Amino acid sequence: MNTDSLFRPFSLKTLNIKNRIVMAPMTRSFSPGGIPTDDVATYYSKRALGGVGLILSEGTVIDRPSSSADPNIPHFYGDAALAGWKKVIDGVHESGSQMGPQIWHQGIMENHHSGWTPPVPFEGPSSLNRPGLENGVAMTDAAIADTIAAFARAASHAKALGFDTAEIHGAHQYLIDQFFWEATNNRTDIYGGKTIGERTRFAVEVIKEVRKSVGDDFALIMRLSQFKPAAYDYKHAKTEQELEQWLTPLADAGIDIFHCSQRRFWEPEFEGSDLNFAGWAKKITGKATITVGSVGLTGDFFGAFAGQSSEPSSLDELVRRMDRGDFDLVAVGRPLLADPHWVEKIKDDRTDELKGFSKEALMQLV
Ligand SMILES: Cc1cc2nc3c(=O)[nH]c(=O)nc-3n(C[C@H](O)[C@H](O)[C@H](O)COP(=O)(O)O)c2cc1C
Repeated sequence: MNTDSLFRPFSLKTLNIKNRIVMAPMTRSFSPGGIPTDDVATYYSKRALGGVGLILSEGTVIDRPSSSADPNIPHFYGDAALAGWKKVIDGVHESGSQMGPQIWHQGIMENHHSGWTPPVPFEGPSSLNRPGLENGVAMTDAAIADTIAAFARAASHAKALGFDTAEIHGAHQYLIDQFFWEATNNRTDIYGGKTIGERTRFAVEVIKEVRKSVGDDFALIMRLSQFKPAAYDYKHAKTEQELEQWLTPLADAGIDIFHCSQRRFWEPEFEGSDLNFAGWAKKITGKATITVGSVGLTGDFFGAFAGQSSEPSSLDELVRRMDRGDFDLVAVGRPLLADPHWVEKIKDDRTDELKGFSKEALMQLV
């Protein structure tokens, strides 16, 4: 397997990455009370030492009272949590990698299995998490304004702490995606609308404010998905034209890199072409893109949550698409969660040492 093209450097604004491999953001819930521990710092440093070019943190929540549904998800606000993140980024830099936090508001959620709930109800564009599941309140104009400001504060903390980038989480049916999704955004004000273009308004305002807070030179990533956990086959953009309506305003507002979340990177986005989501996003916006989804594994991540094991698989198709120029970077999730040495093994072609993935890997930080 020739993987040389994965080991070329990449530069964009504040990013100077030694290879094309990105650690995908993965929630681990090992930060009691929202404070990342020393074990969390060690976990990320190990991936840096193992050769990952760019690490994206697990989703880390902004300063809104109901931005999180889980007391062990890290915060990206407050002195104690930010001190924890400072240790994380310093350790990652010392170990030779770059990193950005994934900044997140979960929106309307189901209650946590422990029974823990935030001090105020969940908030979203409406009270809906998905059709048929209401569990919170529709945001007022004041709540929207404060949320936008909280995203911007989180990004400015990232820059001040020395992170190299920040990723805004706009995927997977969480707050920003709930604004994109017609099933959860039934607003009749400026944040709603019949078209995906109209429903980008909230995200655009978040991006503009974040951009203002970090300046023009700081690399900003946005993660997006067409699929929702509640609707695997759903597409915000059913055509190339709709994709343009969705992504162009986000690019114009200040996104440098689109992180295009798919369950399986090889699946084409539209009929008539084998381009995937990242391929189309790059073609339409001219921006850099990250692909992701079952790279190097036989099964997808929802299968993993349901208990299915995955085995290592070839990277040939990934490399073929990268060599064709479809995307710039490749995010890898579960293989890196399970094995901090995954990148070295790929680089040295030690394929017989690659591990698969099973749900047990989620139980601890290794
Ligand atoms: C345990 C776990 C936690 C995840 N948490 C997040 C998250 O916080 N934010 C996010 O955008 N995606 C999250 N994801 C999705 C991954 O970033 C990635 O897109 C997905 O696992 C597919 O990549 P893979 O097939 O290489 O694992 C998570 C995935 C896993 C397995």
